[in-house]
Amino acid sequence: MSTKDSYKLLTSAIIPRPIAFISTIAEDGTPNLAPFSYFSMISHNPPLLSVSFSLSPRRPKDTRENILATKEFTVNIISEHFIEAANVTAVEAPADVDEWIISGLTMEPSSQVKPACVKESLFSMECQLHFSHDILDLKTSDVTNSLVLGLIKQVHVNKSVLAENGLVIDPAKLRPVARLGGNTYARLTDTFDVPRPDWKNIRDAVKGSGKNLR
Ligand SMILES: Cc1cc2nc3c(=O)[nH]c(=O)nc-3n(C[C@H](O)[C@H](O)[C@H](O)COP(=O)(O)O)c2cc1C
Repeated sequence: MSTKDSYKLLTSAIIPRPIAFISTIAEDGTPNLAPFSYFSMISHNPPLLSVSFSLSPRRPKDTRENILATKEFTVNIISEHFIEAANVTAVEAPADVDEWIISGLTMEPSSQVKPACVKESLFSMECQLHFSHDILDLKTSDVTNSLVLGLIKQVHVNKSVLAENGLVIDPAKLRPVARLGGNTYARLTDTFDVPRPDWKNIRDAVKGSGKNLR
């Protein structure tokens, strides 16, 4: 399968992907803002998230360059109310272009890192570069992707998205946007709970059926 087809197939199947809306500052001081959906949480102790940048030889991603150079970034969760402004920042603009201006989004000063948070975002994380690793083409050994782990130093939660217990986020209030394949996004509007099974109940049910567990 070609790289292009593999990208299309995998990004349409591994869904929905959350989107890290990343704010960085270049070494020359130019602010940068762009969305990345090769994004996940990988640990809560220490609190770490992962983002991966695809490198085209044509154009390295400014966000990657800035994170590797300055070791700081913020990750902002995109809610439905500003998806269009966020999407605009994915434009392949030259490195000296400030996507904040194009998007019309607002900078909110961070407390522990230099890059700003996105004021319109209802949940933001200030991150420090924890680890980075280049991923190579298996045949040519060219760098094709870079994995970055960010240590979450500080979170900012808009109180309006907290659940009643005040400890967790209510997805119905956050209204996060996820990425599917191509240009398709998804809303998270239909959630349901499935209780974690209790081993004792399963054991008793299997015993009652006359079957043997071992
Ligand atoms: C919703 C969305 C998700 C994206 N996810 C990724 C990603 O995970 N990795 C990546 O390299 N590019 C991704 N892109 C493309 C980048 O956002 C785009 O190349 C952008 O111009 C990079 O900006 P920068 O060069 O200022 O860092 C995504 C674009 C969109 C719209």
